[in-house]
Amino acid sequence: MEYNIIKNADKILRDCPYFIDNPYKYKNKWHDLFNNHNKIYLELGTGRGDFIINMAKQYPNINFIAIELNSSQLATASLKLQKEKLSNLKLINDDARNITKIFGKEIDTIYLTFSEPWPKKRDEKNRFTHESYLKLYDQIFKKDKHIILKTDNKGLFAYSLESLSNYWYIFDIVSLDLHNDERNISNIMTDFEKQYYKEKRPIYYLDASFKN
Ligand SMILES: C[S@@+](CC[C@H](N)C(=O)[O-])C[C@H]1O[C@@H](n2cnc3c(N)ncnc32)[C@H](O)[C@@H]1O
Repeated sequence: MEYNIIKNADKILRDCPYFIDNPYKYKNKWHDLFNNHNKIYLELGTGRGDFIINMAKQYPNINFIAIELNSSQLATASLKLQKEKLSNLKLINDDARNITKIFGKEIDTIYLTFSEPWPKKRDEKNRFTHESYLKLYDQIFKKDKHIILKTDNKGLFAYSLESLSNYWYIFDIVSLDLHNDERNISNIMTDFEKQYYKEKRPIYYLDASFKN
């Protein structure tokens, strides 16, 4: 899939009421920002935002936060979000590596949707299910840990199953073909997923948790 470059992405973001320009100042204060104590679900690498916007629409009693490194991608998401006017979704333009500077123990669920697979061994540390990331997640989960991952990449999926189980996560759902799974797993498609679905590529899915 192509990435559009939006020249004035930063301005579009700054003008968006759902965009959080300085997320660091809300560490331990996200519930205050949302003005409720509903659960907070976080997506890393949200891209153009279809998934998280539709999740926020479907689940108005859950708060959602989307982090995306690429400002053009996030600007596209912000324009879509402004049409929907969802007060339970906030957008952050930052590197997922910085989540512990942005959140205290405030997060209930983390979504990793079609993250870059980083197939080379030397890039392993960049995978969102690398142990170094799992350690960051430990610092922001409110109590129990809960990760939902979707990918079309078999290598990343196999790696994630191993990395998460080595880190004591339990798998509540594992599917090797989400869209043809007999269990009818509840699902909202991401932008990338829609493309892969058209191409009839299997989507790998896991729902993993660790109860504290
Ligand atoms: C393959 S795209 C998937 C986008 C979206 N989740 C989807 O499924 O349509 C991966 C996205 O993750 C973003 N990304 C990669 N590394 C990141 C990081 N360290 N922090 C935040 N976003 C990141 C990329 O900019 C890209 O938009």
